[in-house]
Amino acid sequence: MPFAHVTGWGMYVPEPVLTNDDISKLVDTNDQWIRDRTGIRERRIARENEFPSTLGVEAAVKALQVANLAPTELDLIICTSSSPEYIFPATACIIQDQIGATKAGAFDLQAACTGFIFAVNMAAQAIRSGSIKNALVVGTEVLSRFVNWKDRGTCILFGDGAGAFVLQASDIPGGIMSAVMHSDGSGADTLTLPGGGSHFPASELTIHEGKHFVHMDGKEVFRFATRVMGRAVLEALEQVKMTTDDIHCIIPHQANYRIIETAAKYLKMPLEKFVINVDRYGNTSTASIPIATVEAIQNGRLKSGDKVVFVGFGGGLTWGAMVVEWTGPIPAKKQIHPEQYRLFARLRSFVRRAIRYIEGFFSRRSL
Ligand SMILES: CC(C)(COP(=O)(O)OP(=O)(O)OC[C@H]1O[C@@H](n2cnc3c(N)ncnc32)[C@H](O)[C@@H]1OP(=O)(O)O)[C@@H](O)C(=O)NCCC(=O)NCCS
Repeated sequence: MPFAHVTGWGMYVPEPVLTNDDISKLVDTNDQWIRDRTGIRERRIARENEFPSTLGVEAAVKALQVANLAPTELDLIICTSSSPEYIFPATACIIQDQIGATKAGAFDLQAACTGFIFAVNMAAQAIRSGSIKNALVVGTEVLSRFVNWKDRGTCILFGDGAGAFVLQASDIPGGIMSAVMHSDGSGADTLTLPGGGSHFPASELTIHEGKHFVHMDGKEVFRFATRVMGRAVLEALEQVKMTTDDIHCIIPHQANYRIIETAAKYLKMPLEKFVINVDRYGNTSTASIPIATVEAIQNGRLKSGDKVVFVGFGGGLTWGAMVVEWTGPIPAKKQIHPEQYRLFARLRSFVRRAIRYIEGFFSRRSL
C-alpha cells in the first residue's frame, strides 16, 4: 500500500491589515480586550477583487512549486472553505480551471474550521487506496464578507487567507500516519451561517435578520474547543502507539490563544511546542493550519523527519487530528514551473468557453 506524503505547501494572505485599533473604530472594543481574550493583534482582509479562488490559486501554485509538480499531474483537488465562492459550483473547480489541472477531479468539502484536516485525510485515503497518485488540498477563506462588522463578539476574530498542501504517493514509509475525525450535529447552532441555504433562502427578511452573517455562541464554542482539542491529539497519537514525547510540534487551528494554552495544559506540554500565529492573522478557519505550517517550515520549526500533530475544531460541530511524519518534496531531476501553466490555463479556459458558446449557438439554430 503506498504512503501519502505532504510534498508541497504554500500560503497566501491579502496585503491589507486590519488592526484591533481599526476595529475599535467600528465597534465598542479595544486592543487590550481583544489581545487578552483572544491573542489576536491583527488580521488580513481581502481586497474587493480577491475571492477564495484567487487566494486559493496563489497558495496552490506555491505548493506545486515546492512539490515541483505540474498541475497537469494532479488527480484530485479538494477545496475546503467556510466562505466558499458560491453554494455551487465548488470553489475547487474554479481553482482547477485557473491552475490548469486538466485531469483532476475537483470538489469542495465542508467541515467548517476542521475542513483542512478532514480534506487532507480524504486525499491521503485516496492515495493510500492506490486509486490516485497526486492530490492538492486547499483551505481558503474570505470570511470578512460574512462577518457582521457591528457584532463585537465575532468581528474581532476572523481573517482572510489561504493555504495549500500537495500530497503524493510514495513507497517510502512516512507521511500521514493517522487521523481522527469527529462530528456532533447536536451543536450545529453553536456556530453557523444560517442564511442563503435552502433552509433560509435569501430574502429581505433573512437580510434584515442578519442571517447571512456568522452567528456564534462564543462561550459555548470556547468550552467545546477546550474539551475536544487535547483528546483528539491523544486519540490520533494512540492510533500509532505514540505519546506527546514523540512529537516535535503541534500545529493547531488558530482560533484563540487561550484555547491553545488550555490544550497545552491538558496535554502537559510546554506551549513552545505549539505553533501559534493567531496574533497576526486571526482565525482564518480552514486556512489556519496550512498557513501556520508554512510559517513553521520557514522558521525552521518543522523539518524533514519531524513528527507533527495537526488538530482542529469548528462548526458542525466538528473536530479532528492527524499525526504526520514530515518528509518534503520527492527529489526530481527536472525543474517544473507550475506558475507558467497559469497562462496556458487562462487560454484553455477562454477557448473552452468560446467553443461552448459556438456549439450552443449552432445547436440552438438547428432546433
Ligand atoms: C468570543 C470570545 C473571545 C468572547 O470572550 P468571552 O470571555 O467569552 O467574553 P463574553 O462573551 O463572556 O463577554 C464578557 C464581557 O465582555 C464583553 N465583550 C464581548 N465582546 C467584546 C469585545 N469585542 N470588546 C469588548 N468587550 C466585549 C461582553 O459584552 C461581556 O460584557 P459584560 O460582562 O458586561 O456582559 C470567546 O468566547 C471565544 O474566543 N470563544 C471561542 C470563539 C471561537 O474560537 N470561534 C471559532 C471557532 S472555529
